[in-house]
Amino acid sequence: MSASASAIRLGVVGTGYVGLTTGACFAHIGHHVVCGDIDQRKVDLLNDGQIPIVEDGLEQIVRDARSAGRLEFVLGAAAAAADADIVFLCVPTPQSEDGSADLSYIEKAAAQIAPILKPGAVVVNKSTVPVGSTLAVEAVLQRDDVFVVSNPEFLREGTAVGDFLQPDRVVIGSANRAAAEKVAGLYDSIDTLIIITDPASAETIKYAANGFLAMKVSFVNAIAAMCEAVGADVTAVVEGIGSDKRIGRQFLNPGPGWGGSCFPKDSRALVKIAEDHGYNFSMMKGVVEVNDEQRARMIDKVARAVGRHHSNLTGVTVGAMGLTFKAGTDDLRESPAMAIIAELRRAGAVVRAFDPTTCGELSPHQELALAGIELTSALIDVTDGADVICVFTEWPEFAEVDLEQVAQRAGAGTTMVDMRNLFDPADVKNTGLGYDGVGRR
Ligand code: UDX
Repeated sequence: MSASASAIRLGVVGTGYVGLTTGACFAHIGHHVVCGDIDQRKVDLLNDGQIPIVEDGLEQIVRDARSAGRLEFVLGAAAAAADADIVFLCVPTPQSEDGSADLSYIEKAAAQIAPILKPGAVVVNKSTVPVGSTLAVEAVLQRDDVFVVSNPEFLREGTAVGDFLQPDRVVIGSANRAAAEKVAGLYDSIDTLIIITDPASAETIKYAANGFLAMKVSFVNAIAAMCEAVGADVTAVVEGIGSDKRIGRQFLNPGPGWGGSCFPKDSRALVKIAEDHGYNFSMMKGVVEVNDEQRARMIDKVARAVGRHHSNLTGVTVGAMGLTFKAGTDDLRESPAMAIIAELRRAGAVVRAFDPTTCGELSPHQELALAGIELTSALIDVTDGADVICVFTEWPEFAEVDLEQVAQRAGAGTTMVDMRNLFDPADVKNTGLGYDGVGRR
């Protein structure tokens, strides 16, 4: 790393999935980082070396960077930005009622740091923000000696550390070349493509990337529905199209629909941004519609498995394998499993669930989200007396379950609705269980 870069002091505002990973990884590659959060309890936890989220490799990186004196946690945005040359805004940009991104947290953080930023400091929008947000932050800062740069993140939950340290590219958007180069210099020790462009293009890249990935998943879910209709097998179809380098195999795994804290928010925001600027993004609306339909299709599969209408599942016991929005994370936000379970329970079903991230002590957020769902401490326990077994999340250990034992404890006539195509239909059927996957013949 260039000498000047190592002397650079970074401030990070927000220590959620993005802020904590960003701050820790920048410290890991040699920068001095001060992370600020508004939650004193969280700041204390982090200063005590405890990591409040599941992110592979993050705990070790935080521990090493703290002991090297390059990473500290403080209360509030101003304290994080006080001595910083570059300040990353990593605060939430939740979805507003009308689908647009709510910038109030970004604007509040900008207002808090405006009075204390050093002259020549650079403020970086790391959070996913609508096109034009660098102008919105400049308007709040009211500092013509401070520059605002867009540097969107492409981190996936569960693999965020790897995604940060081995990115496919770094995107930087700025009207000021020197400010853009200053931010680009932070990534000197990472061997990757650095794309420097204007702010609007950088902000659009983020939405276009997530929109395309969501479209790819919705496409394969729609193809899975077609496979069921024409008697094809989606696993063969996915192999047949994914082996075309122009299509690529990733993000072609059928499932219960995409969820999480990003795709749902960003796909709706993309439609709204287009609409606000006079473009009817009908394709993206279709991507969202297919996702909503996929959830309904899963509920119908469960109802068919027990021979009932989906509106009346009284007396039905559902064994749920997985609760998070995907494997590798503890995040329940916008989890398809949670949404489908809520519908099943609304129709009268009793749900017993296991997830690797909910079989220990629950956080207050998890307690709230999981109220009414009976949690088991072992996966196999959800099969006891189950009228239907649902595989919601593709945790690798689920594929190791003893299917003979499942059939024995669930009882004859129970069907597995495998929403992640985790199992081989023949293996399941050989035990006497019924099987219904997503797009499986
Ligand atoms: C996503 C983007 O991948 C990341 O680049 C961006 O910065 C944030 O949003 P994330 O939300 O963590 O990351 O999850 P991702 O791994 O993209 O999966 C999103 C959803 O799509 C999940 O619900 C997942 O289960 C689903 N999915 C993904 C599928 O159903 N099939 C697939 O093949 C891939």
